[in-house]
Amino acid sequence: MIGRINHIAIAVPDVAAAARQWETMLGAHVSAPQTLPDHGVRIVFVSAPNGKIELMEPFGDASPIASFMARNENGGIHHICYEVDDIDEARNSLQAAGARVLGDGTATIGAHGNPVLFLHPKDFNGTLIELEQVTATGESPRAE
Ligand code: CO
Repeated sequence: MIGRINHIAIAVPDVAAAARQWETMLGAHVSAPQTLPDHGVRIVFVSAPNGKIELMEPFGDASPIASFMARNENGGIHHICYEVDDIDEARNSLQAAGARVLGDGTATIGAHGNPVLFLHPKDFNGTLIELEQVTATGESPRAE
């Protein structure tokens, strides 16, 4: 069911500082920051030849990563995002197998403009998994 790893998301306390560190110390290519108020995060993408890392800082009072940051004040790996061809089909098959989908189980439009779902970390070894339905071209419209 799952396809490529689309991104690995790391929560950070200060995305500008993290971006500078990844650029200067790791020599990484880092995108310009974007604030996504609807998603409660400010992000940059770090590109590697075979994938992307998303560094994200909480934004606003109702950030969905606020409680994660409270437990991990220096940041940490927050989720792994896999691409799927058909998100509703993926959800149905996962729910039939007993996996819990966060929220009401309906895909929402994610930070990259594509339909996404999150799976309960307790069902996957403590790892929050995001599924993102990616168009046939393999491009996430707002990924970079
Ligand atoms: Co994500």
